[in-house]
Amino acid sequence: MGALDGKVAVVTGAASGIGRATATLLAEKGATVVVADLAAEAGEEAAAQVKGRFMRADVADPAGWEAIVDAAEGEFGGLDLAYLNAGVTTGEADITRLTDAQYRRIMGPNVDGVVFGLRAVVPAMSRRGGGAVVATASLAGLIAFDADPVYTLTKHAVVGLVRALAPQLQARGITVNAVCPGIVDTPLVGDEAKRLLQQAQFPLIAPRQVAEAVLACMTGSVTGEAFVCQAGREPVPYRFPRVPGPRLEGAEGRLPPAGLAGADQVPR
Ligand SMILES: NC(=O)c1ccc[n+]([C@@H]2O[C@H](COP(=O)([O-])OP(=O)(O)OC[C@H]3O[C@@H](n4cnc5c(N)ncnc54)[C@H](O)[C@@H]3O)[C@@H](O)[C@H]2O)c1
Repeated sequence: MGALDGKVAVVTGAASGIGRATATLLAEKGATVVVADLAAEAGEEAAAQVKGRFMRADVADPAGWEAIVDAAEGEFGGLDLAYLNAGVTTGEADITRLTDAQYRRIMGPNVDGVVFGLRAVVPAMSRRGGGAVVATASLAGLIAFDADPVYTLTKHAVVGLVRALAPQLQARGITVNAVCPGIVDTPLVGDEAKRLLQQAQFPLIAPRQVAEAVLACMTGSVTGEAFVCQAGREPVPYRFPRVPGPRLEGAEGRLPPAGLAGADQVPR
C-alpha cells in the first residue's frame, strides 16, 4: 500500500527538475499524477514515466487551470493534491535593464500561476472533502536574493499568499505550505553557475530531496508554513520574527479587534 493510493495530484512544471522529481515520487507513493507543463515533448515523456496524464498548459492562463481541473475530475474522479511549482527567473540583477518582456514572463508562472492555481484547485479539493496544496517558493522568498530582485519579489509573494490563505483553507480541510529550497541541481541553474558552485564546493540540492519535503507537506497536517530546504538538512519551517505592534497606553489588557490584526501585532 502506498501512502497516496487513490489520490489524484496535479504537478505543474512537471516536465523538468523539481516538478518532475516530485511527480515521480508522488506516483511511486500511489498517486495518479496530472503532469502540467508548457513543454510538450518533455511533459509527455514525464507523464509516460509516471503513468499519468499530460496536460499542456500555461499556468498563467486561467483557462489552462479549468482544463487541468476538468481532466482530474472527469478522468480520475477528483483532485486531492496540487504542487504549484512551475517557475522561471529573470536572469537580470539590474532593475534599470529589466525589460517589459522579462517582467511579464516571470510574473506569469511565478505569481499568476500560483494565484490562478489556488483559485482553481480549492473548489475541486473542497468537493473531495479536503486536500493539500504546496507551492514552490525559494530561499529567495525569505531572503533578499540581490542577483535577481524581481525573482525575489515573486517568491516573497508566494510565501505571503500561502501564510495568509492557510486559516481559510484549514476551515475547508485543505493544508497549504511553501517549500523554500536553496540551489537545486536543475536546468534552471545555468551550466556556468553550476560550474562556479562546484568549484566553490557549494553543495547543490538533489531535486528528489525537495520532492520528499513536498510529500511530507502533503501527508502531514501542518499548514501555513514555509519549509527551508537545504542540502543535507531536514526541511525546517522558517520562523518569522514578531512584527512590532503599536504603543498603547495600558496595552496589557487590550487586544486588537478580532479579524483586524493577527497575534503578531499584539503589543507586548
Ligand atoms: N533550481 C533551483 O535552484 C531552485 C531553487 C529554489 C526554487 N526553485 C523553483 O523551483 C521551481 C521549479 O524549478 P526547477 O529548478 O525545477 O526548474 P526547471 O527549469 O527544471 O523546471 C521548470 C519547469 O516549469 C515549466 N514552466 C515554466 N513556465 C511555465 C508556465 N508558464 N506554465 C507551465 N509550465 C511552465 C518549464 O517548462 C519547466 O519544465 C520554480 O518555481 C523555481 O523558481 C528552483
